Amino acid sequence: MERLQKVIAHSGYCSRRKAEELILNGKVKVNNKIVTELGVKVSSTDSISIDSKVLSKEEKEYILLNKPRGYVTTTHDEKNRKTVLDLIETNKRIYPVGRLDYDTTGLLLLTNDGQLTNILTHPKNKIDKVYIAKIEGVLSKEEIQSLEKGVVIDNYKTAPSKIKVKKVDKKNNNSLVQIVIHEGKNHQVKKMFEKVNHQVIKLKREKIAFLDLTGLKPGEYRYLNIKEIKKLYSIK
Ligand code: URA
Repeated sequence: MERLQKVIAHSGYCSRRKAEELILNGKVKVNNKIVTELGVKVSSTDSISIDSKVLSKEEKEYILLNKPRGYVTTTHDEKNRKTVLDLIETNKRIYPVGRLDYDTTGLLLLTNDGQLTNILTHPKNKIDKVYIAKIEGVLSKEEIQSLEKGVVIDNYKTAPSKIKVKKVDKKNNNSLVQIVIHEGKNHQVKKMFEKVNHQVIKLKREKIAFLDLTGLKPGEYRYLNIKEIKKLYSIK
């Protein structure tokens, strides 16, 4: 079930804000009944019409982008910074699945498929997200253990993670560490390393589930194929 205004926006009809306006103005019907509340949730079997025209469903699009540094993962930015959508040629209302920070690079999925987005972002599905972080200093055994057990950030204990130290540069006092998590809290990886007193210098997401960045330079993207889409759906 999803909010009516979100479903209208994801259909490509208009923006979410405009959809809210249409609902409040009594222009939207769900299963032939006018709805004027913003909290109403609908499912894919409900029929939605606007000004008596049945809402057609936008064709689904699934994109895998290698996000470069210096782009935000929202569809609009108040500070007028570049968004990941500036990198993609599409006339569909796709949006990023989850977030990567402005300075984080790597694998980002974008789609207009709300159902798949829910599967990919719901923590219960425990989908592995593999990051490689360049951090200040060298992790001790105890620090690795506490990251793997879970640390408290923002009053929340992270689920167990997997840590692999890939490279230690003693001369420059930094290391390259792979961390696998399946949650997606705000700035989670950076905060986890900060919690054990190591600043993240660079961060890249290399994988989500079985998807990786093979063949894609920063700024490049490709469409998922049907096999990959089905495999993602089967995670549920
Ligand atoms: N964790 C972070 O700290 N930043 C990201 O962009 C992704 C995960």
